[in-house]
Amino acid sequence: MIENETIKIIKQRRSIRKFSEKQISENDLNKIIEAGLYAPHGGRDIEQDMHFTIIQNKNILDKLNLLAKEAAKQSEMEWLKDLGNNDDFNCLYNAPALIIISNKENSPCAVYDCSAVTQNILLTAESIGLGSCWLYFPLQAFDYDKNGELMKELKIPQGYKPITSMVIGYKENNIIEIPERKVKNICYIK
Ligand SMILES: Cc1cc2nc3c(=O)[nH]c(=O)nc-3n(C[C@H](O)[C@H](O)[C@H](O)COP(=O)(O)O)c2cc1C
Repeated sequence: MIENETIKIIKQRRSIRKFSEKQISENDLNKIIEAGLYAPHGGRDIEQDMHFTIIQNKNILDKLNLLAKEAAKQSEMEWLKDLGNNDDFNCLYNAPALIIISNKENSPCAVYDCSAVTQNILLTAESIGLGSCWLYFPLQAFDYDKNGELMKELKIPQGYKPITSMVIGYKENNIIEIPERKVKNICYIK
């Protein structure tokens, strides 16, 4: 089996849900977001198509958590409803920073492009000693934002839609269990 630094980081990255309070420097955040932009993309102009919102303000993070949980309470899915109703659940895991990636509303590749950028960000974060977790949950806050006030507060430009989000921070515990994953379904046609 080939092993190199890239494969090591890919295998080492796991979703982190416990963070220390230490804030991440703007320099480090800029570095990981820049690495995000080197992802493959189906849209024409990745620099223009992507919009990054980096939230480090505790009051806004708390507000987003509450809005997302309110939205989850309306979900048809019981497990989402249960999380919305769980007072102990913080959908941002008390992380010091949340990144929301938005893309042009009318881009047919928006979801793919943001996902590729997101994975680059998560791997880059891991490579510089930061933990991360890709999150769907907080995006529900935007479903609850019928008059666009949250979009305005977060300065997401008109014509852009939030597609992916992730929390980033220093891991509370550096010993992370990494269960082996085996390829189960694979078929070569030769
Ligand atoms: C599209 C997407 C949405 C996710 N949303 C959430 C989420 O809302 N909350 C959460 O705790 N984890 C979320 N995750 C993380 C997954 O639970 C996690 O990646 C998966 O269990 C595999 O674990 P690993 O990341 O440690 O390999 C999400 C992952 C993806 C790719």
